[in-house]
Formats: sequence, structure tokens, C-alpha cells
Amino acid sequence: MAANRPTNQAERAAHWNLVYDTKGEDAVSWYQSVPTKTLELFDVLGVGPDAAVIDVGGGASVVVDHLLARGFGDVSVLDLSRVAIERARARLGADAERVHWLHRDLLGWAPERRYDVWHDRAVFHFLIEDEERRAYLRTLRAGLAPGARVIVATFDADGPTHCSRLPVARYSAADLAAQFAPDFELVTSRREEHVTPAGLIQPFTWVVLTARA
Ligand SMILES: C[S@@+](CC[C@H](N)C(=O)[O-])C[C@H]1O[C@@H](n2cnc3c(N)ncnc32)[C@H](O)[C@@H]1O
Repeated sequence: MAANRPTNQAERAAHWNLVYDTKGEDAVSWYQSVPTKTLELFDVLGVGPDAAVIDVGGGASVVVDHLLARGFGDVSVLDLSRVAIERARARLGADAERVHWLHRDLLGWAPERRYDVWHDRAVFHFLIEDEERRAYLRTLRAGLAPGARVIVATFDADGPTHCSRLPVARYSAADLAAQFAPDFELVTSRREEHVTPAGLIQPFTWVVLTARA
């Protein structure tokens, strides 16, 4: 176990609220003004605006802005940071009412409904314990509609070892897909060299998965 790593919901929430309280939403290392890979993968998969989409650990990301602009009518954003959700809501103004906001910790969450697209950018890689990954997979299975697509992005094998002072697990596309096997199979993958607001390059692995029949 890494020293000082938050291990329960209250500690995780406190950690992430402090991160968002300390930095502006466009100054955090993972900030992107346009979620290029997300939109590219939605296009490749042919995901249309009728799809029910959830952005887990969405934080203050602009993914939701872009989906609303594309006419998506059933978008949910889940995050354990109250501060991050408030930032996103404030940015969206009246459009925030069109979004389902879920102030929840993913690891203790029982989805009340099912989604056609599960989107996770830079959350799964914080799960460095087997039990955390098992909890994530249980929640994922419970939250998916038949035929759902799962989009997950983590740091690539040559990416940073830490983010926001927390250790992360790094994955090649094959390694990341293996985390979801045998219940899920790999549809496609991408590598992205994300440029942080400070100008550093962070390699990401993106995978798209579907549940095996
Ligand atoms: C590196 S940020 C990525 C934010 C967003 N996905 C993006 O790409 O801009 C990680 C996010 O995951 C959230 N998070 C971390 N652990 C979580 C958990 N167990 N449940 C829900 N959200 C979590 C954090 O609050 C933070 O917003």
C-alpha cells in the first residue's frame, strides 16, 4: 500500500476536493479543451445522440459540454468530488439542468439504471489494488445496457507513474483489455500523447470494449 494513499470514500473525496480547490479546472494536468479521442471514438463506433452515456469520474471535464452540443439527451456525469461537479455545473449554466449529476464514489456505487456508453478517462488507473478493480468491474457490469460500449483511458505503459500525488497503474492496450477479460472483449484501441497545460506529454492508452455474448 502506498503511503498516505486515500483508502476510503471520505479520504478519496477530501483528496480530490482539495485538488480541485487548489487548481483551476483548466490548470489540472488532465485538462483538455476538446475531448478529441472521446469524440473520435464516438464517431468510429457510430454512437448517436439517442445513446445513454455516463462519464464516470468525469470531474469538471468538458466531455459533457461537447455531448450536449452534439444533441445527446441522456448524459450522466459521476464523480466523488463535490467541487468538481459544482465547477462543471457552473460552467454549463442553464444547460446543467440537462445532465444527470451523480455525486458518488464509483467503488461503492450500485447503478440505479443502465447505460449504452460507459466513458472513463483517467480514473481506472488510480485503482492499484485487486479489490478496487474487482469493485469497479462489479459496478461496470451492473451499469451496462445490452450491447453497451465501454471506453477506458489510462496512462500508457510509458506514461507517468503518478497523478495528483497518487500512484497509478499503467497499461498497454493489451494489458488494459486483459483487466476486463474474460467478460469483455477489445473492439479497438488508441494511443494518445496528451499535452498538459504545463506543456508536458503524457501518453495515454484508450480501449473500447464490449461485453462478450
Ligand atoms: C484525473 S481526473 C480525470 C477527470 C476527467 N475524467 C477528465 O478526463 O477530465 C480523475 C477524476 O476521477 C475522480 N475520481 C477518482 N476516484 C473516484 C472514485 N472512486 N469515484 C468517483 N470519482 C472518482 C476524481 O474526483 C477526478 O475528477
